[in-house]
Amino acid sequence: TLPSSVKIVEVGPRDGLQNEATTISAEVKIELVNRLSAAGFINIESASFVSPKWVPQMATSTEVMAGIERKAGVIYSVLTPNMKGFEAAIAAGADEVVIFGSASEAFSQKNINCSIAESIERFREVAVAAKANNKRLRGSLSCSFGCPYQGAVSPEAVADVVQRLRDLGCDEIDIADTIGVGTARQVQTVMQRVMREFPVSGLSGHFHDTYGQALANIYASLEVGISIFHSSVAGLGGCPYAKGATGNVATEDVLFLMQGLGIHTGIDLDKTVDAGQFISQHLGRKAVSRAGNALAAK
Ligand code: HMG
Ligand code: MG
Repeated sequence: TLPSSVKIVEVGPRDGLQNEATTISAEVKIELVNRLSAAGFINIESASFVSPKWVPQMATSTEVMAGIERKAGVIYSVLTPNMKGFEAAIAAGADEVVIFGSASEAFSQKNINCSIAESIERFREVAVAAKANNKRLRGSLSCSFGCPYQGAVSPEAVADVVQRLRDLGCDEIDIADTIGVGTARQVQTVMQRVMREFPVSGLSGHFHDTYGQALANIYASLEVGISIFHSSVAGLGGCPYAKGATGNVATEDVLFLMQGLGIHTGIDLDKTVDAGQFISQHLGRKAVSRAGNALAAK
């Protein structure tokens, strides 16, 4: 039996926008986050406190966090690769900080400029500080189903880093398909392996849709008991350090699937479609969401 309800973590304002080449104003980002909270999302990944040299689009993160309307009960999450990022996150009033590592050594080097082992040491300080400040701590694990630089990644490699993130005290761990190469059976194998290390209720599926497999992978994850999923409104996104990777699975498509399955999300699909159309108009292109575009055309 599938879960009766799921948590959707909207990552569009961060993962979705981080790779956009032209600068998007803080006002537009703020409007997007506000529209998403109004649509009923209870967890919105809103900003990223990384080096602006590495990811220029996220340089407005402090302004964005200061400008959004804080809706009660909503967790506004931000990425924090190190203590510098953590301090900025605390100053900005983030509710949850995200440390982000990789199951592949090669990607760890390209994305955060250090080995997996070094990243865990950097994250340890952030984890301790998060607990001391009563902040939720999430761990995100890139390349759990394949790496753009080293190719295959074994379920054991994923489980190994999951254990290390667990030991740092993560409340939730994202099993991420950075380049969207995972397929349904593989997804179940990896998810079932990591469940031996971390409670299934705290594991999430973060699927990019490069190869069109994300919805199938979500369904496959539901079948093995995963009940948290990440998605980007309008299918925004890509990772600057994973060339050619497309956006996250589109939130509208995920909501349409859940609605059809009778799985509760607490999110208003029509308002989400409007948020997707809003940001797509600002970016000057059509939303990538099939369901979103079909519903918008009605
Ligand atoms: P580094 O160069 O090794 O760091 O970068 P450093 O400590 O030597 O510092 C170098 C410079 O960066 C210094 O400035 C620091 O102050 C500055 P300078 O003295 O040269 O002027 N700096 C910072 N500035 C602002 N905020 C900070 C910060 N830290 C250092 N937090 C670092 C290491 C991790 C900082 C760098 O590699 C970086 O910023 N990487 C970010 C990569 C990134 O954001 N990738 C995308 C997000 S991950 C993702 O999308 C995957 C995910 O969606 C899951 C999936 O799909 O797989 C989560
Ligand atoms: Mg991602």
